[in-house]
Amino acid sequence: MNNKPIETERLLLRELLPSDDKDMFELDSNPEVHKYLGENPVKNTDQVQEVITMVRNQYQSNGIGRWATIEKETGLFIGWSGLKFITEPENNKVNYHDIGYRFMPQFWGKGYATEATKAWLTYGFEQLNLTEIIGAAHQENKASRRVLEKCGLQFVEQFMWHDITCDWLSISKEYWLELNK
Ligand SMILES: CC(C)(COP(=O)(O)OP(=O)(O)OC[C@H]1O[C@@H](n2cnc3c(N)ncnc32)[C@H](O)[C@@H]1OP(=O)(O)O)[C@@H](O)C(=O)NCCC(=O)NCCS
Repeated sequence: MNNKPIETERLLLRELLPSDDKDMFELDSNPEVHKYLGENPVKNTDQVQEVITMVRNQYQSNGIGRWATIEKETGLFIGWSGLKFITEPENNKVNYHDIGYRFMPQFWGKGYATEATKAWLTYGFEQLNLTEIIGAAHQENKASRRVLEKCGLQFVEQFMWHDITCDWLSISKEYWLELNK
């Protein structure tokens, strides 16, 4: 592992590893998890291995990517969270950092996405010295929108992702510093 794990009150954030494949399959084969993600859950473990390899390549090429998110109390893998450097145009924008999260349903509603996102904003602004972080979600994904807003991201505009209307939210380092004074 290249980067040191990040600890929050209840979570451990660490790089995704090839050995996370079974947990990643449980996460990404669940249709409930994929309800607002284009409704295309994975069908086999090969697909998951490809994703883990792709994410680990992003650690090398971009210095960051989504990380495994572990419940400290139980040591259980709950899903992933983190910053991704977006290199393909989205909402006509490219080369920006996006905050994202994806957890198994049994861990929803405990404030974990909010806790992880706050840690990632701190990491992004303080360690990576970013000037802006973006969050984007299916317009009906109320839980995701609420997480972004609780962490200080503000609605900018709607855009189309394939045929899905999505919300685009943003937070600048300046505004984040103001909120965390
Ligand atoms: C989005 C997701 C990560 C949220 O994780 P979580 O740990 O449950 O989030 P939190 O508990 O930190 O916060 C969720 C907030 O949304 C609220 N919420 C949840 N469902 C809601 C709904 N249907 N309508 C309105 N608010 C809702 C919760 O009440 C909570 O707000 P509160 O603290 O003010 O009460 C989780 O639902 C998930 O993994 N979904 C599947 C993958 C996904 O959609 N990822 C996001 C893609 S953009």
